[in-house]
Amino acid sequence: MTGQLPPERLYLVGFMGAGKSTVGRNLSDRLGWPYRDLDDIIESETGKSIPEIFEMSEERFRELETKYLIRESEKPPPFVLATGGGVVVREKNRDVLKRTGTAIYLNVDFDVIYARIKFGEGRPLVPDGDDAYRKLKSLWDDRQEYYSAVGSTLPLGDESPEIVTEMILDELSQTTS
Ligand code: S3P
Repeated sequence: MTGQLPPERLYLVGFMGAGKSTVGRNLSDRLGWPYRDLDDIIESETGKSIPEIFEMSEERFRELETKYLIRESEKPPPFVLATGGGVVVREKNRDVLKRTGTAIYLNVDFDVIYARIKFGEGRPLVPDGDDAYRKLKSLWDDRQEYYSAVGSTLPLGDESPEIVTEMILDELSQTTS
């Protein structure tokens, strides 16, 4: 499917490791819409990596996240924007996502998420140690209501990004037909 859907601002939301960036790039290829990644934008605008920004403070990172989310949301459709896993925590951001476009929540099973992200890899919120599973599960639990509040939920296991892309294209074509 290419070029058949009405242009929109498509936001991918979900926990770390849900596959937002890979699926976002696939969707962008399939739809012929530009792809952007909010974390990459924050890094290129500040000249700092996400871990370096978190070293200043998480609050600083959240301010930058809101600033660039708003800026991106004001750009004309169509585009696909992959967001960071914590974008939904601020009410202001949830409002922007709901008001300006269509958000899809990649609701990947927590054990699949954990297996993907447990080694950290540039993610400052992934803890070390024996307690890592419990701490991340608790963060995941706390965020569920926020993810579900901004858009439609796609329940997922360990499907490939290609399959997830097809599922989203199907969902979009149903909601717009
Ligand atoms: C975060 C998720 C990260 C990144 C930052 C904070 C979060 O993005 O924005 O480390 O709060 O869950 P990914 O979801 O792309 O890993």
